[in-house]
Amino acid sequence: MLNGKEYRDWISKHMTIGKDLLYLSEAECRALPLSDQEIFDLTERALVLYSEKKTDMPAKIALHPIRDTFYHAMPASIEEVSSVGIKWGSCYPENRQHFGTRQANALIIYNDYLSGVPLAVMDGLYITEIRTPCVAFASAKYMARSNTKTFGMIGCGIQGREHVRIVCNTFPDLEKIYVYDMFEAATDALIKDLQPQVPCEIVKAKSIEEVVKSSEVVATATIIPETPNPQIKDEWVSKGQTLLLSDCHSLVEDATVKRADKYTLDSIAQHELLAGYDYYPHGLPNVYGEIGEVCGGHKPGRESDQELIVCNNVGMAVEDMMLLRVLFDRALETKAGRILPL
Ligand SMILES: NC(=O)c1ccc[n+]([C@@H]2O[C@H](COP(=O)([O-])OP(=O)(O)OC[C@H]3O[C@@H](n4cnc5c(N)ncnc54)[C@H](O)[C@@H]3O)[C@@H](O)[C@H]2O)c1
Repeated sequence: MLNGKEYRDWISKHMTIGKDLLYLSEAECRALPLSDQEIFDLTERALVLYSEKKTDMPAKIALHPIRDTFYHAMPASIEEVSSVGIKWGSCYPENRQHFGTRQANALIIYNDYLSGVPLAVMDGLYITEIRTPCVAFASAKYMARSNTKTFGMIGCGIQGREHVRIVCNTFPDLEKIYVYDMFEAATDALIKDLQPQVPCEIVKAKSIEEVVKSSEVVATATIIPETPNPQIKDEWVSKGQTLLLSDCHSLVEDATVKRADKYTLDSIAQHELLAGYDYYPHGLPNVYGEIGEVCGGHKPGRESDQELIVCNNVGMAVEDMMLLRVLFDRALETKAGRILPL
């Protein structure tokens, strides 16, 4: 990958830096060529660089204008790929009931690494959708049993669907995927749309309890309320399981995270800030380390089939900036999007 001045010179062949601004809509981002393997590898690399302190990323600051809603300001820079920018994302969990729309929204600004000049404004939802399950499965690659045969997904929205779509890339021996959503139509739509693409059986579970008791690896992507409302009873969770949480501790009881043999975070600084906002009313459990330390080989992953492991990943701007660099480049290469005057 080109870097520094060489990269800037390459960009200058496609647009006039300082005069042009590339705008990419969500549909235009989705149409860019990018393989699942590339997305996974780039996301994992971002985790490693972050934990090796080779990126610049403050914990994401938040606004909470209405109860249970949030906005996150997510800036980051990554020297290795000359990428710098910010994602501005919002989450309104009741949007479906009130407005018939999704809960998450996001826009990204991408800047020239050497001059700071804005290069692009683009959709941030697609990047969020594709990188979040990769963080979960980068965690699972080291923390779950490699011969995992059963996977469970709680929450069948944007994130749940993408988890299910790619889970077999991490677990080639997978036989069954149990899915559950409190909104039954979301479960049905996931199965209808994804069963033809996924090489193992997707089972419609009747309850969260069925998912948790049937699955070696359980992922959750539901909502992040200001006060967690745990619906996964600690007694349903067994030794040897791996929990991949994309929605903080919303669904798990405090007893579960506290008795985990290993409990990892994507960013300790980020979750300490969340604790300051009171998202963890019982406090954080003992943290084994950041998942990037494990992915980078600095700490062991799973060490026995009996370990209960919880990986809590709330999302980091470095993941976005890593993928942004590649999407921006692909857009220039394929002349996607629209050039606007800056
Ligand atoms: N960790 C990250 O990096 C990251 C990134 C993006 C989103 N998220 C979080 O992931 C979650 C899902 O995001 P999304 O964009 O997929 O949202 P979405 O609205 O598309 O899907 C969420 C689904 O969860 C279901 N649900 C809510 N509460 C439930 C419960 N108690 N039991 C079962 N199902 C339940 C909803 O019916 C909905 O279908 C949100 O909390 C969001 O903040 C995390």
